[in-house]
Amino acid sequence: MSQSPKIQHLTDLQKLVSLCKRRGFVFQSSEIYGGINACWDYGPLGVELKQNVKKAWWNAMTRRPDIEGLDAAILMHPLVWKASGHIDGFTDPLVDCKKCKSRFRGDQIPEGTKGCPNCGGELTEPRNFNLMFKTFMGPLEEEASIVYLRPETAQGIYVNFQNVQVTSRRKIPFGIAQIGKAFRNEITPGNFIFRTREFEQMEMQFFVKPGTDDQWMEKWKAWRMEWYLKYGFRKDNLRFHQHGEGELAHYAKAAFDIQYQFPIGWQELEGIHNRGGFDLGRHQEFSKKNLEYFEEASKEKYIPFVIETSAGCDRSLLASLCDAYREEGEADDLRTVLGFHPALAPVKVAFLPLSKKEELSGPTTKLQEEFIDEMHTQYDEASSIGKRYRRQDEIGTPLCVTFDFDSLNDKKVTVRHRDTMAQDRVDMTQLKEYVRNKLKNF
Ligand code: GAP
Repeated sequence: MSQSPKIQHLTDLQKLVSLCKRRGFVFQSSEIYGGINACWDYGPLGVELKQNVKKAWWNAMTRRPDIEGLDAAILMHPLVWKASGHIDGFTDPLVDCKKCKSRFRGDQIPEGTKGCPNCGGELTEPRNFNLMFKTFMGPLEEEASIVYLRPETAQGIYVNFQNVQVTSRRKIPFGIAQIGKAFRNEITPGNFIFRTREFEQMEMQFFVKPGTDDQWMEKWKAWRMEWYLKYGFRKDNLRFHQHGEGELAHYAKAAFDIQYQFPIGWQELEGIHNRGGFDLGRHQEFSKKNLEYFEEASKEKYIPFVIETSAGCDRSLLASLCDAYREEGEADDLRTVLGFHPALAPVKVAFLPLSKKEELSGPTTKLQEEFIDEMHTQYDEASSIGKRYRRQDEIGTPLCVTFDFDSLNDKKVTVRHRDTMAQDRVDMTQLKEYVRNKLKNF
């Protein structure tokens, strides 16, 4: 019996950062100019992975019969941010070290610490620093033309609540889902794409009748956890964290985070919040538009309560990479694998001719063409077949199809599996069905 190889999961984020750079998942923004802090670009494989994460989330939400989709503008009326509480309350306490000039978020300095955690120097008093990016709309750079880059996508949903409810003839309970960019001028960004200044959120606001909110909160907690498990995240790396009194955001009645065990420790992946009637109530007050919902059956009018699920797309992507990363075997024969769920894998199948000779490369390319309408594939003919398999393992491709000299006669190809490295000989006429099945029943 063959022994199963020694498996080492990711313990050092830097290993992943270098794989991401080397294989074209994530690059530093504006790298040729020395980079810009806390902004990242997704390369060819990263953008595929990101699209797949978004697709998995979007489908889980909008294929439900009780959720509609939305794509609201990033720039919104400035009063939106007054109503939402962001202008007055979306601040972090900023603390500077007078000696070494390090900058900290006051709430992240351990309690009882007297001096700078870096050098022991004297610290300034905390100053409140608003995290919203300001810009100007139109040609005049004056107070009256200030607009903000949205720090969350949720507000675009609240201000469109009535538009969506009326046009899609929705009855409460129902939800609105949106994916889009958000911007925060974070004081302490870092840890690669974990905390950045420009990121994408995947947010869903579920509107419910007051009094039913606790039940819906429980349901959404369970559904969101199931979503991560469905896409192959290891159960041991996921947990709930309930916000205590001091942690609750200004809008929240109750809040739970889904946390993931990153190599940097347990950290928030997604927030699930019971926002009560805060948001629609505030927008009703500031816009002076009646945002009450009329319930036909009971003839009641009320401001709906909101259960929000708020996930970071970049953070889910980072967690999917951390979770998928493994090294198998010993130092002299180490195999690095990204064991993605096939729905997330950037490349589903790689087509590899055994040699570069035209008699093999021609039919391999032809075979690949049969798949390109259906899934993202790659073609690779450079270096030995073993090296090419390893290259695909490292980017998480679930299946490799090899066309060899025998294929010319027996019309069969070898399908090699990423996780088991097992190889099957498959008739070319059956290949599409075989691949579809393998990817579906992973
Ligand atoms: N609408 C509620 C809201 O925005 P949040 O907890 O501030 O709640 C939700 O953010 C999610 O957005 C977080 O769980 C995280 O995944 C992601 N996120 C927030 N700030 C981020 C940042 N600076 N960089 C990357 N992702 C971020």
